[in-house]
Amino acid sequence: MLSLMLILAIETSCDETAAAVVKKDGSDVTVLSNVVSSQIELHRQFGGVVPEVAAREHVKAILPVIETALAEAGLEKETAPSQLKAIAVATGPGLVTSLIVGVETAKTLAHAWGLPLVAVNHIEGHIYANFIGQAAFKLPALVLTVSGGHTNLVLFRGHGALEIVGQTRDDAAGEAFDKAAQLMDLGYPGGPVISKLASEAEGPGGIELPRPMLDRPGFDFSFSGLKTALLYQLQKDPAWRERVPAYAAEFQQAVIDVLIGKTLKAARHYQAKTVLLAGGVSANARLRQDLAQATAQAGLAFHLPDLAYTTDNAAMIGAAACFKAERSDFTEVADLKAQPNQSL
Ligand code: KG4
Ligand code: ZN
Repeated sequence: MLSLMLILAIETSCDETAAAVVKKDGSDVTVLSNVVSSQIELHRQFGGVVPEVAAREHVKAILPVIETALAEAGLEKETAPSQLKAIAVATGPGLVTSLIVGVETAKTLAHAWGLPLVAVNHIEGHIYANFIGQAAFKLPALVLTVSGGHTNLVLFRGHGALEIVGQTRDDAAGEAFDKAAQLMDLGYPGGPVISKLASEAEGPGGIELPRPMLDRPGFDFSFSGLKTALLYQLQKDPAWRERVPAYAAEFQQAVIDVLIGKTLKAARHYQAKTVLLAGGVSANARLRQDLAQATAQAGLAFHLPDLAYTTDNAAMIGAAACFKAERSDFTEVADLKAQPNQSL
């Protein structure tokens, strides 16, 4: 087993072009650089991510972002190949045209520099954001993974032993926030603005939305009905524009109640010792706070990633890659492909 390794990681699954240099020394994972070039401003005018536009931006940004990540980590371009252990890249799930840019760049660098490649699943990357600066968790752990494209409950029995035990049947949690924001003319992305408005509200102000699937058996989610319920309430309320913070608060709480209810139920069922939170929606302050409280009451250990590693970034891909490289889980250049529907 290698005691010290440096990995250059690349992430281009959606609308962030990202590169990072991550170090694993013994059991400590540290981030030497973490560069994210976000396209959010560009996509905002369209109300969501336009794949063709995203791919063009990735092509423009990828090399400067990698150069900055190497420089900020104190690596010279000339000597970096001899100091790095591997090049890691997120291969999916994501937008195929976006993924291809990261994947082809990683293949080219690996070939030119004579380094092995580590393929990382994007969701696995989100989960491994929890391992940055953190040595060990009591296992098994139940991970609530909530992002714009995915909502999964993942049973983490050990490195390389991840199993999806619950998932959304329709919209992802982040997507639900984004669509709710669209209904209330709040722009894109919806999560941060709904979270901010909710924190300014006195409370739900008598507004009541359903908690879909909460009392149903199993560990699956469904959020598209919640969005429709919000739409119907807005249509019935001529004064809704004056009550947007209250609608935001109730919508946010409905999503959070379901996420937490199912997470605790699955943790009990699988006798998890730890609950972890991952994905872009884990930036939500109320979710972080409520889940911390609920797990404490249930006697479960709880850990969440630093805010900097919640939304898409390459440090999380590097963290996952360190553990894969330790197991010599490498992929040949010829076999590395973008996999838009890659499952865990
Ligand atoms: O993980 P991520 O950066 O990208 C995907 O892999 O999808 O997640 C982005 C999602 C968006 O839907 C965004 O609205 C949501 O995360 N998000 C939030 C917050 N910050 C970002 N949702 C709720 N509250 C937030 N504070
Ligand atoms: Zn993501």
